[in-house]
Amino acid sequence: MHLPRERGPLSSAVLTALSGDGPLDAVALVERVTALSDETDVLVDDDFHLTLWTMYELHYRGFDGVDDDWEWDPELLRLRHAMEERLLAEYRFATSEWVHASMEATGDVPTRLFALTEMVPGAPLSSYMQREASREEFVEYMQHKSIYHLKESDPQSFVLARLSGRPKVALAELQYDEYGAGRPEQLHQALFAKGLDVCGLSSEYGAYIDLAPGSTLAVTNVMNLFVLRRSLAAAAMGHLGAFEATSSEPCRKVAGGCRRLGLPDLVASYFDEHIEADAVHEQLAFRDICGGMVAERPELLGDVFFGAAAYLFSEALAGGAMLDAWREGRSSLRSGTGDPGTASFETAVAS
Ligand SMILES: [Fe+2]
Ligand SMILES: [Fe+2]
Repeated sequence: MHLPRERGPLSSAVLTALSGDGPLDAVALVERVTALSDETDVLVDDDFHLTLWTMYELHYRGFDGVDDDWEWDPELLRLRHAMEERLLAEYRFATSEWVHASMEATGDVPTRLFALTEMVPGAPLSSYMQREASREEFVEYMQHKSIYHLKESDPQSFVLARLSGRPKVALAELQYDEYGAGRPEQLHQALFAKGLDVCGLSSEYGAYIDLAPGSTLAVTNVMNLFVLRRSLAAAAMGHLGAFEATSSEPCRKVAGGCRRLGLPDLVASYFDEHIEADAVHEQLAFRDICGGMVAERPELLGDVFFGAAAYLFSEALAGGAMLDAWREGRSSLRSGTGDPGTASFETAVAS
């Protein structure tokens, strides 16, 4: 994957260092993060989230021409830590009401988690995709979703080594499904890639990074913040559970939207696959993983709720930004950055 294009002072400094074009002054950058004014919306800021996304990607597949050893560079980690602390504080503040209500609620852990998924106001993105989205908007939707779905489930694999007993076995079972249950062609990442291909889009890993706004990158950044910190493993699993528990019905709606628009069956098949799979995964995640972790260590309950609320909130911001753009008659993607491939979309879906 190529390095992305800079979006401001933080990403410029990090991308310059990764390219080998200059040193990384982590102390100055940490000061810059600490001094970010209230005018910078850290929840969705383009420069902030591209910088974090770039640093996290060093733990996955890295970048062409960038030394892999940047992954554990202490100066880069110093900057990442400062940015994570800032983002964590914003998320804890933004979700505190729902986490508090879940802590006060009665019932077992899965019951309270399912209730939490109803509590956090979401963006009606899947309903829009089902009933109203144009083909062009659907193409944009696929580009946004490619940021996570081309590495779907890889983040949560970092957590397996940190679990034991019932939660570990349940996460392995869930991941086995996500990774194709022994069939490479059923790997969920590959199913999504096929959907991109038949839309005439690029299924190359990271192809649409430059088009993705901060609100979209934030969804994977929050996930990475949780999965890469052992101290936040319970938040990572609450996050996973909320993802799975809010996937089945929305996937049914998006698959309906694919058919309404006459898109190739391969596009809908990714979403079809998740209607049943995620109805099982939500049980595994909320009951066996989250419930099991809290049974072993009751003090993790707040983290589980926080992770779930953080996921729901990040998706609401990302989906809300997409809907706002479309309702205002503009693209939900960043502009002026080139496009790796939408030109053949009409041709692809017409054939
Ligand atoms: Fe999946
Ligand atoms: Fe799933």
